[in-house]
Amino acid sequence: MSPVPSLAATVHQRLADALAVARPEAAGADPLLRPSDRADLQANGMLALAKRLKGNPRELAAEVVSGIEAGDLIKEIEVSGPGFLNITLTDRAILATLAARADDERLGVPTAETPGTVVIDYSQPNVAKEMHVGHLRSTVIGDALARILTFRGDTVVRRNHVGDWGTQFGMLVQYLIEHPHELDHEGGEAGEGGKAGEAAMSRLNRLYRDSRTLFDSDEAFKERARGRVVELQGGDAETLALWQRIVDESKIYFNAVYDRLDVLLTDEDLVGESAYNDDLTPLSEELERSGVAVRSAGALCVFFDDVRGADGERVPLIVRKADGSFGYAATDLAAIRDRMGTLGADSVLYVVDARQALHFRMVFETARRAGWLPEGVAHHLPFGTVLGTDGKPFKTRSGDVVRLMDLLDEAVARAAEVVREKDRDGRLSEAEIAERAEQVGIGAVKYADLSTSRARDYVFDLDRMVSLSGDTSVYLQYAYARIQSILRRAPEGTRAAAHPELPLAPAERALGLHLDAFAATLDGVAETYEPHKLAAYLYALATHYSAFYETCPVLAAGDEATVANRLFLCELTARTLRLGMSLLGIHTPDRL
Ligand code: ARG
Repeated sequence: MSPVPSLAATVHQRLADALAVARPEAAGADPLLRPSDRADLQANGMLALAKRLKGNPRELAAEVVSGIEAGDLIKEIEVSGPGFLNITLTDRAILATLAARADDERLGVPTAETPGTVVIDYSQPNVAKEMHVGHLRSTVIGDALARILTFRGDTVVRRNHVGDWGTQFGMLVQYLIEHPHELDHEGGEAGEGGKAGEAAMSRLNRLYRDSRTLFDSDEAFKERARGRVVELQGGDAETLALWQRIVDESKIYFNAVYDRLDVLLTDEDLVGESAYNDDLTPLSEELERSGVAVRSAGALCVFFDDVRGADGERVPLIVRKADGSFGYAATDLAAIRDRMGTLGADSVLYVVDARQALHFRMVFETARRAGWLPEGVAHHLPFGTVLGTDGKPFKTRSGDVVRLMDLLDEAVARAAEVVREKDRDGRLSEAEIAERAEQVGIGAVKYADLSTSRARDYVFDLDRMVSLSGDTSVYLQYAYARIQSILRRAPEGTRAAAHPELPLAPAERALGLHLDAFAATLDGVAETYEPHKLAAYLYALATHYSAFYETCPVLAAGDEATVANRLFLCELTARTLRLGMSLLGIHTPDRL
C-alpha cells in the first residue's frame, strides 16, 4: 500500500513553499487552492494574505509565480484578476499520478492520519415489530459509514441498539405465559432466508396484535402485564426465557432483512437496550449523588435551561420514572458510558431520525455533565423522513406502514424488468437475471437514499430509482459494465497502460483530474459523515467518463499507445467506480 499525493496536494505544497520564500513572515499561510473553470486549479490565498501584510495582492501573486518553475508538474501559472493564480498542469503529471494510483490496490488513497475507534449506532429496529422505512435509512447510511471509515483505517464498532426492553415486553411475555402456543411454528414453513424471516415476523405480528387487544380490553390482564415488567427487569428466569424467545424470533426476521439488504450487521453487533439493564441502577445512583439528576415528582430527572415546553416550564430528561422503572434515556446513558469506558471510543455516531434530535442533545449534555463524555465526541447524524410520491410520509395506499420486505421485493421486481429489457438478445440465463436484479434493485434503493443529503427528506419513488438515466445506481452500474465490456474486447496483446508522453484531449484531462480527486472526496465524507458526497463524486465520474467515451474512441483510437492509454483510463475509472460503490455497499456486476 502506497498512498499517492493528489495533484492538488502537490501543487499546494509548491505554492506554500514559494510563498514562504517570497514572504518568510507568511510561512504556513494557506494558498487556498480550488478547482477552476478557467484552468485546472485556482489559488485565492494571495488576496487575504496581501491584505494582512498590507501589500498589493497582484504583486505578491507575481512574486509567488516567479518562485515556481514551470516544468514537469505545472505547465502554466499566471496572475489573474485582483491577484488570483490560475494553474494548468502538464498532461504528463496527470498521467503519471494516475499511473501511481493504478499501481496501488487502494488506488493511492491514504489511511486516516489519526485513525481511531468509532462506534456507529445504526439500524436499531424494535423487537416484535416490523422494520419501517426509517430503519431502512438508518441501516443503509450507517452501513455505508461503517464501510468508509473502516477503509480509512478506523476501528469501527457497529452497535445495533435494538429496542428490546420496556413495558410492552411485560405485555408480550404475559400473553405468552397464558397462551404458550402463540409463537409455535405452523409446521412445514421453516424455510430459510427471506421466507423464514417473513414467517417469524407474521408470528410476531399475531402475538403483538392479540396481546395488545387483550391488554386494551382486560384490566386484570393489564395488571398482570405490569407485574411482568417488574419480573423481567428484575431478572426472573422464566420471564427472561420467554422474552428471549421473542427476541430470537425477531432476530430471524432482522437477519433476513439484513441479508437481503446485504449489510454488514451480524448477531455480534446486536447490543440492545436490555444489555444495559444491570448498569441502570448504579448509573442513576451516580447521577443523583453527583447532583446531575434530581428528584422531581418522584422521578429522577435532568433539567436544561434551554429545553422548555409550550408553557415555558422546563422539560426534563427522565432517567428513572416515579414507578422505579427505566426508559429509553437511561439505556442511552448507559450505552455512552460503555462506549467511552469499555470500548474506548474516540467518536460515537448515532444514525437516527432527525425527530430524535432533542433526545440526543439532552442525553449527550447529561453524559457531559456527569463527566462520561468529552465535548465533540458524540454526534447525532440525523436523517430526514421518507416521503411517498405525494410528498407525505411514506404509507401504503390504505394508509398502513409499508412493510420493508414488500418494498425490497418490488424494487427487485422492477430491476428484473430493466435487466430483462436491456438483455434483448437473451444472453443472460434466468439465474443470472435473478442475481443481477437483486444487485440492481437493492443497489437502487440504497443509492437513492445515499445520494440525497442525509438531513433532507427524500421521496421514495421506485420508477426514478431504477431509471437508466440520471443520478441512479443503475446508471453507475451500467457505466461500469460497459467499461468491462470494452476491456474484454481489447485486442489480444494490447494491455491497458499509461503513456505519460502522450498529449491528452480535453475530455481525457477532465476525467483524469476527477479520478485524482477520489481520495479528497473520501476525506470529505469522513470529516462530515456525509456519504452523499461520495455518491455525487461517482455520478460525476460516470458523467466525465461518458463525455470521454463520446469524444475519444478507445479501441479505434488508431495507434497502439493511444489505445493502451485510453484503456488505462477506462480501467482506472472502472476500478474507482467499483471501489466507490462497494464503500456505499452496492455491487457492480461485470455484465448487465
Ligand atoms: N429503536 C429506536 C427507534 O426505533 C431507535 C434507537 C436509536 N438509537 C439509540 N441509541 N437511541 O426509534
